[in-house]
Amino acid sequence: MIKILAIDDREDNLIVIQAMLKTLLPQCTVMTASSGMEGIEKARSESPDTILLDVKMPVMDGFETCRRLRSDEKTRHIPVIMLTAIANSPANRKQGLESGADAFMAKPIDEGELIAQVQAMLRIKRSEDKLRYERDALEKMVQERTMELRESLEGVERLLEQTIQVLANTVETKDPYTAGHQMRTADIATSIAKEMNADHEMIKGIYMAAMIHDIGKINIPAEILNKPGKINDTEFSLIKEHPLIGAQIIEPIEFPWPIGRIILQHHERLDGSGYPNGLKGHEILMEAKILGVADVMEAMWSHRPYRAAKSIQDTIEELETYKGIRYDPQIVDVALGLFRKGKISSENQFSNVQSFIS
Ligand SMILES: [Fe+2]
Repeated sequence: MIKILAIDDREDNLIVIQAMLKTLLPQCTVMTASSGMEGIEKARSESPDTILLDVKMPVMDGFETCRRLRSDEKTRHIPVIMLTAIANSPANRKQGLESGADAFMAKPIDEGELIAQVQAMLRIKRSEDKLRYERDALEKMVQERTMELRESLEGVERLLEQTIQVLANTVETKDPYTAGHQMRTADIATSIAKEMNADHEMIKGIYMAAMIHDIGKINIPAEILNKPGKINDTEFSLIKEHPLIGAQIIEPIEFPWPIGRIILQHHERLDGSGYPNGLKGHEILMEAKILGVADVMEAMWSHRPYRAAKSIQDTIEELETYKGIRYDPQIVDVALGLFRKGKISSENQFSNVQSFIS
C-alpha cells in the first residue's frame, strides 16, 4: 500500500489534494497534516512514501519543515515535493533545494504534473529503499561473519591455552622440585609486564611462554634434575640445553606469540653471560628479559634439591648487584617496586594465572 502525506495549513487545499490523489492513484492512502509540526510527527510514525509539503505556513514554514525532516534519521529518506503558490522563482527553488526538497510544484496543482511527480518520487523511494535494504543486509552479514571469526579465534586461543597447560603438567610430573615453579614464574612475569604497561597480547605471550619455559627439562635425566648436592660441569652443560630443547619441542605449534624465542632466550643476560647463545642487550626479546627476571626471583625463593631456598635479601641483592649488567634495569626496578608494595611475594597468590585461565 502506497502512503502519501500532504502537509498544508489550509483545509480546502488538503481536500483538493486528497480528492485528486484518490482519483489518480486509487491504490494509495492519503494522510493529511495541517502544520509543519504535525506533519513531522506523522512522517515519523507513519513512514509515508512521499510527502507533499506546502511552503507558506504559519509558525513553521515548508522550508524549515523540510530541513527538520532531512535531519531526522527516521524521515530523511522520504521524498518531498514542495508546493508553492509563489511563482517558481529561482530564489525560491534555491531555498527549497537547500532545505532538502526533491521537487517543486506550482499551485494551483495541475493533475498531470501531480501524478507524474508523485510517480517519479515513488520510483526514487523504491530504489533507495532497495539500496538501503541491501546495505543493511550486507552490514548484518559482515557483523555476523566478524562475530563468527571472533568466536573461532577465541576457540583457538582456548585450545592453545589448554595445550600450554598440558605441556606444563608434563614437565612438572618429571621434575617435582620445580612443580609450581613455572606457574609462579608466570604470575610474577605477568605482574611485571602489566606494571610496565605492556599491551595485552604481549602480556599473554609472556604468560604462555612462562607457563612452559622449562619444558626442555623433560629431556634432561631425572637423576640430574633431582640430584641432591652440587652438580658438576658436565651435568650443568646438559641443563643448559633446556632452553633450546624447549624451543624445539614447541616449534611445530604456530602460536600467535613468539613463545619459542622467549623460551630460547630466558637464560640470556644483557652482558652476554647467559646461555645458550650468549646474546646481548638489544638482541634479547623484552618478553625474555621480563621472564628472565621473574624466573630468577622465583627460582631463588624456591627450595631446590641441591640447595635450600635463598632468602628474600639474597634475591634482592642478586637483582640489585647485576641490574644493568645481567638484568634490564627498568625491569628490575619494576619487579622490586612490586615486591616492596607486596604485589609479588615468595608466597604468590597466582592472581594473574587465575585471570588468564578462567
Ligand atoms: Fe629455565
